[in-house]
Amino acid sequence: MLSLVPVMKKQQVLNCSFSAWYPIFKHITIDSHILPLSKEFLAYLDADGIYLPKSPTDAPSDIIDDTEEIDHNKTPSFPDLEASIKESIQSLGGRVFPKLNWSSPRDASWMARGNTLRCSRVNDILLLLKSSDFVSHDLSLPFEHCTDCEDGQENNVKYELILRRWTDISEATEFRVFVKNDDIIGISQRDHTNFFPDLIPLANDINLEIEDFHDRHIAGNFPDHNYVYDIYRQDKRKFLLIDFNPFGEVTDPLLFNWTDLNQLDVTSPESQSWETFRIVRSFEGIQPSQYLSYSIPTDILHLTTGLDANKLADFLRMELQMPDQQESSSSDDEDASPVDEDQPEK
Ligand SMILES: Nc1ncnc2c1ncn2[C@@H]1O[C@H](COP(=O)(O)OP(=O)(O)OP(=O)(O)O)[C@@H](O)[C@H]1O
Ligand SMILES: [Mg+2]
Repeated sequence: MLSLVPVMKKQQVLNCSFSAWYPIFKHITIDSHILPLSKEFLAYLDADGIYLPKSPTDAPSDIIDDTEEIDHNKTPSFPDLEASIKESIQSLGGRVFPKLNWSSPRDASWMARGNTLRCSRVNDILLLLKSSDFVSHDLSLPFEHCTDCEDGQENNVKYELILRRWTDISEATEFRVFVKNDDIIGISQRDHTNFFPDLIPLANDINLEIEDFHDRHIAGNFPDHNYVYDIYRQDKRKFLLIDFNPFGEVTDPLLFNWTDLNQLDVTSPESQSWETFRIVRSFEGIQPSQYLSYSIPTDILHLTTGLDANKLADFLRMELQMPDQQESSSSDDEDASPVDEDQPEK
């Protein structure tokens, strides 16, 4: 029935922007800082090539200065932003997870040392942001699939860099929750590319715990009736809210599909056979990762095939600008407190 199919509106996407929901759900999510981004910095993110800003304290590099073709205008400088990032990293325990208003640079983690989004230095963050197609999408097409936004229309979004305290998250117990008319219509294992046998005996309990978490903390507090959110079950009845996503095609439906989610009418008799809680129940049920297409980056293809010599030059310059990694692998930082459902609400 067509009338049941929700159409995605610009406001729904804006509601999922980090700074829109964070103040409402601060007490049940990971401690985070929001840093406003200037037009100059956005232009730098948008520009071709992987130039890292030249910090005033950088030692001059002979190799860079001796290279005749370097365009020094391309080497930007953002001392205020860099200082704010450093301060935030320090106050968030020394290691952070970066993202823009909606997306993290998950597709670019192959670029980072250690293949992780865990950042302890300004350049770690900038390199990830500059290399990510997901971040570019936030910048160029934030309202894709919205029925009230025309192609090419200027978006006027206030862009922000979000730095979140690094928190070790086990993908086995992360879930995506699909909400329509404020009711849960679907819960999917977040990482549908793996089979976690330990989840099977817990399935019923987890389903009920998530329903309870939804009723106590989410329903009625998010400024929309249709939305999707991700949560991490840290322990029995202890959840951390990770992120909100729009109810629509821009959000990966994981073990569901958008045709079904859009058309589901919970009041119809056919919906009785609808399976709300979905996990991978065997090795055969595993689905391919959406990130597979990012595992052989086109930039690297260009480098290896020599299709784009400028990219190789950018890459080498960037490496020259990176000081040695001194990152500690200890996990002694303080993680965010999970919501303990046995405790009274704050
Ligand atoms: N503070 C953090 N520390 C460590 N890992 C994190 C942190 N925040 C998120 N993650 C991990 O990164 C994943 C992606 O985070 P998030 O949803 O914020 O990014 P996203 O770009 O919106 O992803 P998606 O498009 O898949 O929703 C989470 O599912 C979680 O596993
Ligand atoms: Mg998200």
